[in-house]
Amino acid sequence: MSKRITITAALPYTNGPIHIGHLAGVYVPADIYARYLRLQGNDVAFICGSDEHGVPITIKAKKEGVTPQDIVDKYDAIIRKSFSDFGITFDNYSRTSAEIHHKTASDFFKNLYDKGEFIEEVTEQLYDAEANQFLADRFVVGTCPKCGNEESYGDQCEVCGTSHNATDLIDPKSAITGATPVLKETKHWFLPLDKHEAFLKEWIIEGHKKDWKPNVYGQCKSWIDDGLRPRAVTRDLDWGIPVPVEGGEGKVLYVWFDAPIGYISSTKEWAEREGKDWEPYWKDEDTKLVHFIGKDNIVFHCIIFPSMLKAHGDYVLPENVPANEFLNLEGNKLSTSKNWAVWLHEYLEEFPEKQDVLRYVLTANAPETKDNDFTWKDFQARNNNELVAIFGNFINRVVVLTNKYYEGVVPTPGELTEVDKETLAAVKAYPEVIASSIERYRFREASQELMNLARLGNKYLADEEPWKVIKEDEARTKTIMYVALQIASALAIVSEPFLPFTSKKLKKILRLTQNGNVIPTEQGTSDEESLTWNTVSEGAELLPANHQIGKQELLFTKVEDKEVQAQLDKLEASKKANEAANKTVEPQKEEITWEDFSKLDIRVGTIIEAEKMPKAKKLLVLKVDTGIDVRTIVSGIAESFTAEEVVGKKVTVLVNLAPRKLRGVESEGMILMTETAEGQLVFVNPDEKEQVANGLTIS
Ligand code: MF3
Ligand code: ZN
Repeated sequence: MSKRITITAALPYTNGPIHIGHLAGVYVPADIYARYLRLQGNDVAFICGSDEHGVPITIKAKKEGVTPQDIVDKYDAIIRKSFSDFGITFDNYSRTSAEIHHKTASDFFKNLYDKGEFIEEVTEQLYDAEANQFLADRFVVGTCPKCGNEESYGDQCEVCGTSHNATDLIDPKSAITGATPVLKETKHWFLPLDKHEAFLKEWIIEGHKKDWKPNVYGQCKSWIDDGLRPRAVTRDLDWGIPVPVEGGEGKVLYVWFDAPIGYISSTKEWAEREGKDWEPYWKDEDTKLVHFIGKDNIVFHCIIFPSMLKAHGDYVLPENVPANEFLNLEGNKLSTSKNWAVWLHEYLEEFPEKQDVLRYVLTANAPETKDNDFTWKDFQARNNNELVAIFGNFINRVVVLTNKYYEGVVPTPGELTEVDKETLAAVKAYPEVIASSIERYRFREASQELMNLARLGNKYLADEEPWKVIKEDEARTKTIMYVALQIASALAIVSEPFLPFTSKKLKKILRLTQNGNVIPTEQGTSDEESLTWNTVSEGAELLPANHQIGKQELLFTKVEDKEVQAQLDKLEASKKANEAANKTVEPQKEEITWEDFSKLDIRVGTIIEAEKMPKAKKLLVLKVDTGIDVRTIVSGIAESFTAEEVVGKKVTVLVNLAPRKLRGVESEGMILMTETAEGQLVFVNPDEKEQVANGLTIS
């Protein structure tokens, strides 16, 4: 039975491009879900758009000396392109700067205002007296009252996920000037979440204990158990949607008030374009609403937005909110500001035509129940050992042999053996197995079942060995190839939600149309019946005898070691660049005179002996030939050099420094060292060509 399903994917902030974390956490699972439901013949609205308000965008604009509109225009375009390049099939992708959104969000606010659903209150809020500005959300950083994270934002702590009021922060500091904010009175509108507590308890704690993911349910329960408080839904900012009621001048809607309404405005935009009615997608009791998000969005989608929808009264509530945990990259947290990421637009430059590989790896290793790590080694292994060696290899053998033995015409089978029948029965069972995983939002599991279907095909060929059988039994070979071609067709259809580019290519090779129909050919039959997910699960014949297929083409190619290394090198370089950028430079010391300087007697000497100072981690005891004499110098360089490697080195020595005892050994001078960007010590040495001249460090 066909159902109406509204699927939303979190609106990405347009203050930067998107990376693999976004794709793995939200957009790939949402797209698999949407494609699968469409293949099942459902009425799907898959909705997204750019989230273009909020403080990070204004901060970025300020930093770059451009307008916030410039920033959102730039990243909206980049993000849109990435989504389309990776085959994310939104029915509509809108923007919260669009007029239709401003009007929808404004009307929504007015509706709640008119119903008396807000508390209007003058309260003291954090204010930066230097910048003449109220500090909300990301304009203020302080210690999270719940978990003690010292870098929590005003509205949310990214470590524990708690959503709080800026005034709750301990020791707040302005993100603009670094100043300690003062308190200043201002009027705002608050959504009294406490008023919705009873409803939330019943709806989530009682109603969704079983079907929501434990991570989502657990977070919601803990917030509700902690007690909910009114939340301000307006801000003293100038970038956003103006507060549309009396007294709202100079204020805008809180970004988390307007952004989720963006799902509704985007649906309206789509319906208008398609000549449809948007309302059933949001208001009909029979519509299933599902929000795909990352875990930092849970409170907004499970507590705040539903309270808004409930207060409004006309809307359905989400049936599920399958939030994912976070994806890490090579053991570290993905970070836009630290450039620790795999950017989608860059990935495509380096791996053009490997969109499906990334989709597959991110699904097979999705952070569904816990944070997960993306590594390039794993990327390579999944590509080479699964996509190439199993899926690709099976299809390649089927297509090559069909062309070789039968000029690409599907042979007429003889009687099926037990093995054939069992194999076809197993193929027939896969769509349901995969569907059941998808419907429980277990996309990893679903992707592994898909690979198992390819495995089944590979095993069938390996066991039946048509390349041997052809020498003695041509009739049997025909049956084997017929069965193998049915498996290949099933793969072409069932892989579509996961590997849409591959599915398309495979359908072209098998000459199935994009909706799965068999293309009529002169030699073959013209089977007009549409082949869909259900055709496979019904066990119908997918490719009839006499149907002409096309020539082989490679579906996947290997990822070589050097490609993996290049990616690792790139990450290493960004780590170094980041460290260098973050290195704190010590302030300059007090000025000295020329006379002071000329007192230093600096000479080039040679280290002629060296040994480690017993029980001292850092110290080497050196004998240095200064040209005047040979003297003992104790130097704190043992963490950077071994005794053996410094013998024979030329070094710069300050020879007239007053002698000093270090661990009982008198040191009669000082070796001058400098430091590389990575903090590695190097000698100030006339023979070394590449010295990093960032100041002498006295060691
Ligand atoms: N822009 C938010 C983020 O990236 C998500 C907004 S989702 C919406 O975390 F519901 F507000 F649209
Ligand atoms: Zn916290």
